[in-house]
Amino acid sequence: MPSIRHGLPDDLPIRHLTRGDLIACADLSEDRGWPRDEHRWGLLLGASTGYGIDDPAGKGLAAACVVTSYQPSHAALGMMLVAERFARQGLGRRLLLHVLAEHGETPLTLFATDQGRPLYEGLGFAVVGSVERSVGRFLPEDVPVRASAEAHGSSALTTRRAKARDLPAIMALDVSAFGAERTQMLARLPAFSDHFRVAERAGELVGFAALWPSDGSHVIGPLVAPDSDTAKALVASLASETDLVLRTEIDTRHTELRGWLSERGLAAVSRTAVMTRGCQDVPGDWSHRFAPLTVATG
Ligand SMILES: CC(C)(COP(=O)(O)OP(=O)(O)OC[C@H]1O[C@@H](n2cnc3c(N)ncnc32)[C@H](O)[C@@H]1OP(=O)(O)O)[C@@H](O)C(=O)NCCC(=O)NCCS
Repeated sequence: MPSIRHGLPDDLPIRHLTRGDLIACADLSEDRGWPRDEHRWGLLLGASTGYGIDDPAGKGLAAACVVTSYQPSHAALGMMLVAERFARQGLGRRLLLHVLAEHGETPLTLFATDQGRPLYEGLGFAVVGSVERSVGRFLPEDVPVRASAEAHGSSALTTRRAKARDLPAIMALDVSAFGAERTQMLARLPAFSDHFRVAERAGELVGFAALWPSDGSHVIGPLVAPDSDTAKALVASLASETDLVLRTEIDTRHTELRGWLSERGLAAVSRTAVMTRGCQDVPGDWSHRFAPLTVATG
């Protein structure tokens, strides 16, 4: 006989999610007060592996999460959600144990809400850092990047729309910033994002950033740059493309960029812990990694 915890059988099957689960996943996000974010779920159900537990009463999903695997050996866990009506009945732990069993010794990283953190800590994850969410309407600076480029000659920084031929250089920057090959995400970025821009100095591609839609706002991520000035130039150029409220999640070690964002109208609203299991830290070079694509994928 299956054992029962708080009235829920603990042998509810865990299955892989498919694109057909998109609406059920968005419903689950909404159930927990998160944006429905169907656009982001579409990306995740295509590029990542989704796991779900069906509501035994047939009312959609009781729980879900996604795991994105990167090469050679790293995976990011995200979108861990248990429907409110099933909270604290062991589904989150079951799903996480299943993921840990499937992914063996692969080093895992995730961004944990305050609610999720005790669950992860109980299963061997440790906090190694944090990101800060900034939200608001961007107030443009007086001097656009292109004008300052003209004033400083050809070695000055410029930004422009990314082109298909930029992909190899973008991938090389991404590997060094994120410490893993993330081809399945980067190849989808031009279609996933509304705007995808690169930064160049003296003709060399030095950074990139994307802007993607999230339930009536625009999210900046990933944001990869060699320094704060380049990151600022990319943010300003993306912001000039939209009238929507902007959101981004900046590694808290990037104090200069966070201060600048706040001056430019993006207020810091919350912090999320970065956690790892099976590795001391998130791979890659944090000094070039300003914002993740989404906290669900790293
Ligand atoms: C976080 C979440 C997935 C946990 O799922 P759950 O099924 O309720 O968790 P479980 O019942 O498996 O609990 C596992 C352990 O996590 C901890 N935990 C779970 N919910 C908690 C809460 N609200 N406060 C404190 N600890 C909590 C406890 O240690 C718990 O063990 P216990 O019940 O034996 O004390 C769920 O609360 C949720 O979907 N929250 C909203 C979305 C979210 O923040 N997701 C995390 C993203 S990183």
